[in-house]
Amino acid sequence: MNTKGIILAGGSGSRLYPTTAVFSKQLQPIYDKPLIYYPLATLMLAGIREILIISTPQDTPNFERLLGDGSQWGVHIEYKVQAAPKGIAEAFIYGREFIGNDQVCLILGDNVFYGKLDFLREAIQTNEGGTIFGYRVQDPERYGVVEFGEGGQVVSIEEKPQNPKSNYAIPGLYIFTSDVTDIAPDVRPSQRGEVEITEVHSAYLRQNRLKVQLMGRGIAWLDTGTPESMLEASTFIHAIEKRQGTKIACLEEIALQMKFINRETFLKTVHALPKSSYREYCLMIADEMQEDW
Ligand code: G1P
Repeated sequence: MNTKGIILAGGSGSRLYPTTAVFSKQLQPIYDKPLIYYPLATLMLAGIREILIISTPQDTPNFERLLGDGSQWGVHIEYKVQAAPKGIAEAFIYGREFIGNDQVCLILGDNVFYGKLDFLREAIQTNEGGTIFGYRVQDPERYGVVEFGEGGQVVSIEEKPQNPKSNYAIPGLYIFTSDVTDIAPDVRPSQRGEVEITEVHSAYLRQNRLKVQLMGRGIAWLDTGTPESMLEASTFIHAIEKRQGTKIACLEEIALQMKFINRETFLKTVHALPKSSYREYCLMIADEMQEDW
């Protein structure tokens, strides 16, 4: 089954004001690259090549300037403007035409994942309705939360509950069959006035078509909701990149590694980059991969 990807990069970013007064959160840096590079890298590493970015009227042109049509990375990127942000489930309303009859993987533009992504590739292969993930956190009340029954079955899904029924938060990474475009329009706005993604999960749960897979300790899911968590995410990425001498979410490298582009296109793209440590890194990759590619 073909799987398409959506990155939802809207929102007012009010919690990061004044940093987000001019540019949205997903354009802000996490250490050495804009935040949106990380979710885009996640989709590409999952093998997804058709991607829709949904954002605000002000920011969509900026994303287009930053990422273009994706051909430099062997992917196809489309854009859709969301008039006013009214909740995550709207992604499937704005994305209806794009999704068509395909399966879709939605990732929130401010969610950073680091680690081996085999679990995601497998989930994409085996999804039969909705697949979401559970990730153990200390502060589940800030997220969508899964409640498990005694046999480990999913009992309920709650959005930002005051009294969370477990420590398992639901990261902003979801897989749905194409009928999500029929389910999303039926979701009624919550008390905070948003069409909550957790209502979409609950709809699949009621139909017995929701799978919740726990994300193991080997995966880091980083939050970028506050100035402090942005700094922590930057520090994390910096520490790993410095120690290993590699880059996380270098889209040119991923495109080459996934064979979305050949060495020739890679070199053409990289030579067109401004002189920077990012370009230097890509050139080093080209040298290292010389024998294999
Ligand atoms: C949103 C979702 C929530 C999810 C979280 C992950 O929260 O509503 O279910 O756990 O993203 O980042 P929000 O970004 O609105 O705080």
